[in-house]
Amino acid sequence: ALITLRQLLDHAAEHAYGVPAFNINNMEQGLAILRAAERCDAPVILQASRGARSYAGDIMLRHMVQALAEMFPDIPIVMHQDHGNNDATCLTAIRHGFTSVMMDGSLEEDMKTPASYDYNARITARVTAAAHAVGASVEGELGVLGSLETGEAGEEDGSGAVGKLSHDQLLTDPDQAVDFVMRTKCDALAIACGTSHGAYKFSRKPDGEILSMKTIAAIHDKLPDTHLVMHGSSSVPQELQDIINAYGGDMPQTYGVPVEEIERGIRMGVRKVNIDTDCRMAMTGQFRKVATENAAEFDPRKFLIPAMDALEALCADRFDRFGTSGHA
Ligand code: G3H
Ligand code: 13P
Ligand code: NA
Ligand code: ZN
Repeated sequence: ALITLRQLLDHAAEHAYGVPAFNINNMEQGLAILRAAERCDAPVILQASRGARSYAGDIMLRHMVQALAEMFPDIPIVMHQDHGNNDATCLTAIRHGFTSVMMDGSLEEDMKTPASYDYNARITARVTAAAHAVGASVEGELGVLGSLETGEAGEEDGSGAVGKLSHDQLLTDPDQAVDFVMRTKCDALAIACGTSHGAYKFSRKPDGEILSMKTIAAIHDKLPDTHLVMHGSSSVPQELQDIINAYGGDMPQTYGVPVEEIERGIRMGVRKVNIDTDCRMAMTGQFRKVATENAAEFDPRKFLIPAMDALEALCADRFDRFGTSGHA
């Protein structure tokens, strides 16, 4: 059944577990994620970006999620808008059956320009009031996601360069977070702690200099009852890089957020963990493998079945390691 983000994260906080939020664009991703959830007895957060909504179409996404809820009746499902950029994006998502939205006011509507604190607080408060009036949940974001190594933003919602960011912008300020949650009444808060979107997060295994878990601890200290969200939480596993590169891929060596760091984050109050890149890599590794090993193959299902299996395995691993398993 569909539930709200607030319902799920309240339960997660009560039982001290984290929930991965997997991006979804098509039926195969939906089936793979839900098969993993069923296997692990885990609740799920499915999230669609603006890009996913234009790729699949709102009507297709709505019926797909309804179909998944019908096929997997025992699994609680949150359907969430990832990185909503304005009121219209968030409200049309809710109209299409999403039970939760992210109003990302850390950037201006163009998703390229860092926004003022006041802009962010006002738009997030406005969207939260509207969403709450119809029973949907809201995630806000304070701080701009980007690399502490280079000061570059990652691919925030895939829309490209933000320009050089200061250390201050890249780490959420705990006192400001308290004010933001009070002003906006958001249900969950995405924070910046050195992660960025996409595969190229770190040029080495991250340490405390470039991945600031102490920022999370400081925020949780001041906001013990707020559900914290970590974006850019793909681990970019070496084995997935290796599979892609073994079958004709050309991905430069890179490092993501180690799963054990995410586990630490969950102990410090992180409840929602956004993962897209790892899911993409799990599927694409299998596409490349099938294409290379059987160059005569032209049935898409022969590509998609191993790709779904690899995604299911990845999701099951995250459910187990984040403590989500057993909580459906
Ligand atoms: O935050 C970005 C997510 O990975 C979604 O990416 O906008 O290319 O669908 P997308
Ligand atoms: P990754 O690119 O690390 O998977 O992050 C996804 C994300 O934060 C979606 O909002
Ligand atoms: Na989100
Ligand atoms: Zn994100």
